[in-house]
Amino acid sequence: MRSLPDQRVPLRLRVAAREELTPVVVLLTLVAPDGAALPGYEAGAHVTVTAPNGRRRSYSVAEAGGPAPARYQVGVLREPGGRGGSVSLHDDVRVGDVLDVLPPRNAFPLLPARRYVLIAGGIGITPVRAMAAELRARGDADVEVLHLTRTAELAPWREELLAQGAVVHHSAERGRLDLWPWLAEPDDDARVYCCGPASLLEEVRALTAHWRPSRVHTEDFAGVSADEVGASPFTAVWEPTGARVDVPAGVSLLTALRRAGLPVDGDCEAGTCGTCRLRLVAGQAHHRDVVLDDDERAVAVMPCVSRALSEELVLAPPPR
Ligand code: FES
Repeated sequence: MRSLPDQRVPLRLRVAAREELTPVVVLLTLVAPDGAALPGYEAGAHVTVTAPNGRRRSYSVAEAGGPAPARYQVGVLREPGGRGGSVSLHDDVRVGDVLDVLPPRNAFPLLPARRYVLIAGGIGITPVRAMAAELRARGDADVEVLHLTRTAELAPWREELLAQGAVVHHSAERGRLDLWPWLAEPDDDARVYCCGPASLLEEVRALTAHWRPSRVHTEDFAGVSADEVGASPFTAVWEPTGARVDVPAGVSLLTALRRAGLPVDGDCEAGTCGTCRLRLVAGQAHHRDVVLDDDERAVAVMPCVSRALSEELVLAPPPR
């Protein structure tokens, strides 16, 4: 069994600018207080920001990546029904404030292709904007960008996207956009990336059911609510004691472990902050977080959102 990588150490970053992109999206520009270069990233990466109220949320970086960027720009959607992190970032953050920010991770990387169809719903445009910029800078692939929002007022970077030739569609004005013309022909030289609400991801998955699954990439960057993880029951085995914990449908693994009196931390309960990480000793997990990369998924699990594909998961606390 490989050991888990060290937990990331937060950067202390200054808010250099804030801009209201729409009535519900604020763009925060985060820099090192001494102007130093920041850890690099590639398009599709996210950083995890601790809001002034202590809540941690993950946000895609909105610009093309690089090895030593001067800043991270993140678009924060105000989510009044959430756990308060986004509202605190909207209401409590001023230019000059310093925030804890976990360095970039990329659970939504750009893989090679000759053609890309990038589909974004709402704030899902953030990683898609970064991907489009990175692909245009490389200049060796065709890129089509589709951005879907309810109204023009709710569309961040609308004029920029239109000027770049993107399809920007507002359902309140013209009804739902039919995505079939972009997805009808499966193409092994193409990749489809989609980031947005669950309904859009489901629609794209359904419309690409005839594509090779490896060519279609989706990300729900709002995180996954513990209420949505339902599905099938399974058993968790706590390796240090051998205790067996039933995880019923509709109850998160984190909740089931806590009800059994096991000491598991948690914060966002949306698969975005990394606090609840456990060691995966045996069994096959159904990962639904945006924290773990592919290597880590073999040895770790985020119990707030993830479940089991096998009948049992054997779990242990992470090494301290
Ligand atoms: S509590 Fe934040 S990832 Fe699980």
